[in-house]
Amino acid sequence: MSKLWGGRFTKQTNHLVDEYTASIGFDQKLAEEDIQGSLAHVTMLGKCGILPQEDVETIKGGLNKVLEKIRKGEIEFSVSDEDIHMNVEKNLIAEIGPVGGKLHTGRSRNDQVATDMHLYLRKRVVELSGMLYELQKSLIGQARDNLDTIVPGYTHLQRAQPILFAHHLMAYVSMFQRDIERMMDSYKRINVLPLGAGALAGTTFPIDRHFVAEQLQFDRVYENSLDAVSDRDFILEFLSHASIIMMHLSRLSEELVLWSSTEFNFIELDDAFCTGSSIMPQKKNPDVPELVRGKTGRVYGNLMGLLTVLKSLPLAYNKDMQEDKEGMFDTVATLEGALQLFAPMIATMKVNKSRMREAVNKDFSNATDIADFLVGKGLPFRQAHEVIGKTVLYCIQNGKYLLDLTLEEFKQFSPLFDDAIYEVLQPETVVNARNVYGGTAKEQVADAIKRSEVLLRMTEQWLEEHQ
Ligand code: ARG
Repeated sequence: MSKLWGGRFTKQTNHLVDEYTASIGFDQKLAEEDIQGSLAHVTMLGKCGILPQEDVETIKGGLNKVLEKIRKGEIEFSVSDEDIHMNVEKNLIAEIGPVGGKLHTGRSRNDQVATDMHLYLRKRVVELSGMLYELQKSLIGQARDNLDTIVPGYTHLQRAQPILFAHHLMAYVSMFQRDIERMMDSYKRINVLPLGAGALAGTTFPIDRHFVAEQLQFDRVYENSLDAVSDRDFILEFLSHASIIMMHLSRLSEELVLWSSTEFNFIELDDAFCTGSSIMPQKKNPDVPELVRGKTGRVYGNLMGLLTVLKSLPLAYNKDMQEDKEGMFDTVATLEGALQLFAPMIATMKVNKSRMREAVNKDFSNATDIADFLVGKGLPFRQAHEVIGKTVLYCIQNGKYLLDLTLEEFKQFSPLFDDAIYEVLQPETVVNARNVYGGTAKEQVADAIKRSEVLLRMTEQWLEEHQ
């Protein structure tokens, strides 16, 4: 069979043009959505009296047959049929004869492809939110097990103040919560139906767009037909949300890589999530977080790529827009790959609590609290800062830590020191002194965990409603 649009042409398409312009190599991923959209469209054509019911039934039967064959891998897609839409239509006609040619009544590939993309991304956003939720559960589980684990907290990657390891993990739970909320919010703009916009201007047939929307469970239809076929904001939004998720994952990855080094030795990733070296028998490499860190680049690239494709495009559809797909598919696959590994990798990671404790005991991260102690005795903070700075310098020069100093040594720096300082110096005291909402005190972190469980329930409910 020749091209579906061949009527106006007098020559065969150059085979290089076929190959260059075809999208079937990648848009076959949209086969299910394409047929789902066509089934709703043809049902509407029947309901509006545009096609006789008999034809509608024949077309529906044919579409289901084609879908079945695609699922079984029985259909060989052809490059000369350009894309998934025309491949499906060709196969439909082969299945049921010329009546299959009535399917495309009142529709264009421009509103068809946009509809497929909306259907596709709508599903992925729910799936990915579910994966983020699983990761949050793993992090919260580890946080619960580490409510008494104290670890140095860093700024500038220098030890700053001791914190609960649970508090550190819960910071990531907050980040992923924002990611989930961004996904939920974008769903509102994804769940809008473009079909019925035709090529750009609408259609002469008396179609019912709202009926199609209802069948496909879209909340709304696009207001403007030009916008409907040329809008790719919903994909850009997804790619930017995905970029932020990858950025979050890359920060966690970097910490996992650092923490599992011999130098830190704070955690050990389970053997099942690590790889070895082909030459150095002793090695256990954190390849998964390293790769996630690395793959962040391609997701950012996909966002920049599509922003650039769309820049300055005149309305309405332009073939350039076919370039919206591969980056989106690649981003979905990259995110899914990372998230499905991260949840179990975090759940199974071993936390080296004694090593973390050792790190806390051998540092100066309690210095701020000693300064605060002197402030409590009436010394202005700026002077207290100076006094403790000198005390720390003395420790460094004498190979000691603040916890090792005698009261006499303390008194060399200020007469305001007394025995109570030893209680103030304890890492537990330092941590629990930060008893403000959102702070690292155990009571606060336990509350934060409780609040996060409420958020988990909300996500569960949303996931259930959008399955
Ligand atoms: N394969 C095309 C795409 O993905 C479908 C729309 C084609 N429309 C057209 N007018 N050539 O963008």
